[in-house]
Amino acid sequence: MSIRQNRAWQALEKHRDSMRDVHLSTLFSEGERAGALTYEAAGLRMDLSKQRVRGETMEMLLDLAREAGVEQAIPRLLEGRHVNRTEDRPALHSALRLPRDARLHVNETDVVAAVHDSLDAMERMVNKLHAGQWRGTSGRPITDVVNLGVGGSDLGPLMASTALEEFAPEGVHEVELHFASTIDGSQLADILPQLNPETTLFIYSSKSFGTIDTAANAATALDWLKTGLGEDEAYIKRQHFIGVSTKSEKMDEWGFDPEHQLLFWDWVGGRYSFWSGIGLGIALKIGMDGFRRMLAGAHQMDEHFRSAPLEQNLPVLFALIGVWNTNFLDIPSLAVLPYDGRLSHLPGYLQQLEMESNGKSTTNEGEQVDYNTCPIIWGEIGPNGQHAFYQLLHQGTRPVACDFIAPIDRYSDVEDDTLREDLKYQHRLALANCFAQSRVLMLGDDALPEGEERPAWKRYAGNQPSTTLLLEQLTPESLGALVALYEHKVFVQGTLWDIDSFDQWGVELGKQIANETDDILRSGSGADRLDDSSRALIEAVWAGSRR
Ligand code: F6P
Repeated sequence: MSIRQNRAWQALEKHRDSMRDVHLSTLFSEGERAGALTYEAAGLRMDLSKQRVRGETMEMLLDLAREAGVEQAIPRLLEGRHVNRTEDRPALHSALRLPRDARLHVNETDVVAAVHDSLDAMERMVNKLHAGQWRGTSGRPITDVVNLGVGGSDLGPLMASTALEEFAPEGVHEVELHFASTIDGSQLADILPQLNPETTLFIYSSKSFGTIDTAANAATALDWLKTGLGEDEAYIKRQHFIGVSTKSEKMDEWGFDPEHQLLFWDWVGGRYSFWSGIGLGIALKIGMDGFRRMLAGAHQMDEHFRSAPLEQNLPVLFALIGVWNTNFLDIPSLAVLPYDGRLSHLPGYLQQLEMESNGKSTTNEGEQVDYNTCPIIWGEIGPNGQHAFYQLLHQGTRPVACDFIAPIDRYSDVEDDTLREDLKYQHRLALANCFAQSRVLMLGDDALPEGEERPAWKRYAGNQPSTTLLLEQLTPESLGALVALYEHKVFVQGTLWDIDSFDQWGVELGKQIANETDDILRSGSGADRLDDSSRALIEAVWAGSRR
């Protein structure tokens, strides 16, 4: 049965008819909202008051969550039931954050012990690199590490290691971290000439160990090492590569030293994997203590998600607001807008998390959905976006929901007095812009002093809803909690939409067709069986490469 048949859904549809034309400025004129619609957990403060809801809307949304079985779904997720139905397995990223003394059995195996064994192996690698004791084939210590991976094997480590750069441990042997993900080799083409093969180590990160993008980058890296070092391939693979995957036999076959492999498990989705060995780059950047702090922050959010009543539960409320915007207010798009340059990769990271998880149109029963699912997620550092696309948010024709994200405090520990004051001033400016933008998007012209006359092209309609997420400070803990908040939001929305948030069959056909297309490109024949657009494009490449 479609969720649209639910009593609560139908009540919400009726309620929507009475809310559709109510402007956010009207809602704010009805009385105090921030107190009632701001929620806190795990060091995060989530203000939903600029969403187009009344108290009764929230009640009805909570009814919807109850009717859709969210209360039962949460323990099913956290206890390792097979919530990934099409692949018949659990989605236990939360187990990667469990403390050492916790216990959780999957198929009679204690996953917590396995997780901590892997974390300990990771720690040994990080410590060896930070001690300058990891040596390449020539005996020189490693100074540069390149993460080769794509999607979940790239975006999480890239996002978190960038965000937490200032938590790098002091007094350790310095190791520079680089990322190469693109199949076209452009990052390697850029990085390799700057590196010395004698002192460079590659992390081959691939959950499936079958992704052509990463395999191609690894092959280029290996050839570069072979040319530069003139050593035996097997020896180079042992000294200059770490493998991170769920496929231990494939890692053995490729030739990683058994000590240089980090294993994780098929119950960790790729886009949920940076808490595992896939996060090795993060641990290299912030040290293992920093990495464990990030896990602890996420675990705090997991515990909140598990135990808080629905009406106080941040991921549940966050999810419900998204469903209200998507399915009832017909808002097709969500912009993620961090007001902190350290979170530059967060929008891209969340794009994969949300759109690969919930960009689905088939229910768990195999039916076509008759409602919308995941909105289109995009975003940018907020203040930069203000000078680029905010024009559309303010005066365009499209409704867009926004997530504003900012830390309250920043730069307090900068030692130099003048620099600290200058930077604190800049942070204050960022906050002022963040709060001003969400206010203008909400109120439109009503944010102006009364009675000011303006021509049509200077008017602002307002009524664009937003959520503001404030972190005390950006720390490993708060970043962990923030990402876990989004992960659980995604799960709750998937539950409400009755879809599998943990598979990604939609990406498979493209991979298959790319293989066939590559055969045609390489062999110089076979284009005649394609559509005429694809054929013409291929012929243009053939003609170009003959020139
Ligand atoms: O093609 C999509 C995808 O499978 C993502 O889900 C995943 O994060 C990415 O590719 C990389 O996959 P892997 O880690 O197996 O190389």
